[in-house]
Amino acid sequence: MNDLNLIRRYEPISVAMHWITLLLMIAIYASISLHEAIPRGNPWRGAMEDWHIYFGFTVLALALIRLAVNLRLRTPPISPPPPVWQLRVSAAVKIYLYVLMLVTPVFGWLLVSGEGESVNWFFIPMPALAAPSESLADLAGEVHEMLGESGYFFIALHAVAALYHHYMVKDDTLRRMLPAFLQKQGRN
Ligand code: HEM
Ligand code: HEM
Repeated sequence: MNDLNLIRRYEPISVAMHWITLLLMIAIYASISLHEAIPRGNPWRGAMEDWHIYFGFTVLALALIRLAVNLRLRTPPISPPPPVWQLRVSAAVKIYLYVLMLVTPVFGWLLVSGEGESVNWFFIPMPALAAPSESLADLAGEVHEMLGESGYFFIALHAVAALYHHYMVKDDTLRRMLPAFLQKQGRN
């Protein structure tokens, strides 16, 4: 019997969407950091904000598809099973990561709508979510910043926990989420 069949793992569609989201999140944080680092007047400054928005809308769309797909699929069990408290903390962090992927972009969208700016998702013009309003832009900007910056902590916590399980506990938490072509290398 093929060795791979012994590992109960996430479906390829869930695995693909998970790792594509990681790449998009890196691009989202890198583009906004570059935007802040580039001096005003340099055209790359505006371009970096545009790419931040394009990738942000992409994460929002992918998270909606991901949620719809993953809610229909069973989470593969971890072997050997971790303590119940770890499963509970992990589930809470995963729910928060969905909040990060779904709610943060909506507040970014409200922020630019409040500022009266028109935005595109690549070449697609996106409608404003609300009428221009300075107070809305300020409030949405604060919530967007708070949620966005919390992502550094929660993504790091989630990734460190996955690596801890792989290298220290030596269970199959991470292997269940690896693409099939990495499964062999991922084995302990
Ligand atoms: C998951 C998706 C997103 C994440 C994690 C995210 C995260 C962030 C972070 C960390 C900042 C820097 C905040 C600061 O230090 O001031 C930022 C700024 C910004 N984001 Fe997002 N963002 C996302 C999606 C979006 C979307 C979809 C839009 C617009 C439609 C948007 C518009 C903006 C704008 C305009 C700024 C600059 C705000 C300023 O200059 O004060 N973001 N975002
Ligand atoms: C280096 C970075 C990352 C690593 C090593 C990693 C690893 C993992 C692993 C091993 C799982 C399965 C855990 C389990 O079943 O209990 C998982 C699930 C999950 N991860 Fe990550 N992850 C990373 C980044 C991210 C990012 C950036 C996000 C979203 C912002 C994210 C969101 C999720 C979600 C929501 C799940 C639950 C399964 C699903 O709905 O797709 N992860 N991750």
